[in-house]
Parts: sequence; structure tokens; C-alpha cells
Amino acid sequence: MRIAIIIGSHRKDSQSGKIGRFLQGQIESLGNHDCWTCDLGKDPLPLWDEDIGSDAPHWAAVPALNERLGHSDAFIVIAPEWHGMVPATLKNFFLVCGGGGTVAHKPALAVGVSVGPGGSYPINELRTSSYKNNRICYLPEHLIVRNCSVVMNEDDATNDKDEHSYISERSLYCMRQLLAYSEALAQVRASGTTDLTPYPNGM
Ligand SMILES: Cc1cc2nc3c(=O)[nH]c(=O)nc-3n(C[C@H](O)[C@H](O)[C@H](O)COP(=O)(O)O)c2cc1C
Repeated sequence: MRIAIIIGSHRKDSQSGKIGRFLQGQIESLGNHDCWTCDLGKDPLPLWDEDIGSDAPHWAAVPALNERLGHSDAFIVIAPEWHGMVPATLKNFFLVCGGGGTVAHKPALAVGVSVGPGGSYPINELRTSSYKNNRICYLPEHLIVRNCSVVMNEDDATNDKDEHSYISERSLYCMRQLLAYSEALAQVRASGTTDLTPYPNGM
């Protein structure tokens, strides 16, 4: 399977990026899967404007990004909680990318991140408002990485043993499900019932 990991932080060296790398390692431990990362902190997209879709130079990178999304079977969408919200760069990602069916009827795991006990608001927001037109399919299961600075670190000495052990088992459970949904939803797409031509936008 080809899995795209979307890092929704504005920060170049974010906890969300660290979590993405950890989840990539878990997916790769489960078989011969191909992961790639779109880190919106490291490679920010321009804010949506009316030149999108034209040959304006600031939009030059987007067709290739959309093509890569189109070749992906599943997504991990990592959203740190910022002021109880999804960061603007991730909302912008959904305005700019994922049209034309590139993510439609493909499974996505929503991951909330907090340095403290938060992290649930971004899950709620992703589930409420990031799928209507692009038809991405969030799994019923999601992941919330709380106290993120003491878990999923490459240097195990910096991890809190109990919290790291709990969240890494839980995330492995999610990774297995994401791969199973990837296979299942490929059949839905192949059924011919998900053609977007009659209704390009969701209701
Ligand atoms: C602008 C800003 C707002 C934040 N607001 C919240 C918040 O509302 N709730 C929360 O739990 N953490 C909040 N945090 C802390 C994040 O949980 C923390 O930065 C964490 O490392 C995840 O973000 P990152 O992926 O950008 O590193 C905020 C951080 C920033 C930079």
C-alpha cells in the first residue's frame, strides 16, 4: 500500500512531524508498504487565492502534489491542537489539494496531537469539516497523542515508559486497521458507484 502522511503543523521541526516518522516506522514494520510525507511546516503551501488552477508560478508545485495524493491508497492526517483548532495550514491544504477525486473514498486516520492533555478538538474538526467535497473517509478509530513530548521519541531514554508503551500499542492497532481499510475501500472505488461526475461536490 502507498500511504501519505500529512503533517499539519506550521512548525518546521514539529512534534507532529516526529509522530509521522514514528507511524511510518510502524507501517513499514507491517509489510512492504510505501510511505511518503507531506510536511506543511517544511514545505508550506500558498494560501488559497483565485489564481489557483492557473499557471501562476506560486501554484506550480500543486499539480504534482495532487498527483501523488491520487497515487496513494490511504492517508494519515496529523493535526496538532492549536488554540483548540486545526492549524490554518491544514485547513488550507484541504482547500488547495484533494480535489478531482485524488483522495475520494480512500481511508484516512485522523491523529490529534497535544503537548498536554488536549488533542481531541482537531479530531472533531477534521471529522466535521475536512471531507465534504473531497470525500476522504476517516476511520471510526482515531488516535490522540497526548503529552507528545514524552512519547514516540527516537531516543527511547526520553520516553515515558508507560505512556509510550500505551500509545505505541494503540497506534499499531490503528495502523493495522488503516491497511485493512485500504484494501477494503479499493473495492468500493472499483465498484463504479463512486463516480464524482454527477455530484462533484458533497451536499
Ligand atoms: C499557536 C499554538 C497554539 C497552541 N494551542 C494549544 C491548544 O489549544 N491545546 C493544546 O493542547 N496544545 C496547544 N499548543 C501546544 C501544542 O500541543 C504543541 O505545540 C505540540 O507540540 C504539538 O504541536 P506541533 O506539532 O506544532 O509541535 C499550541 C501550540 C501553538 C504553537
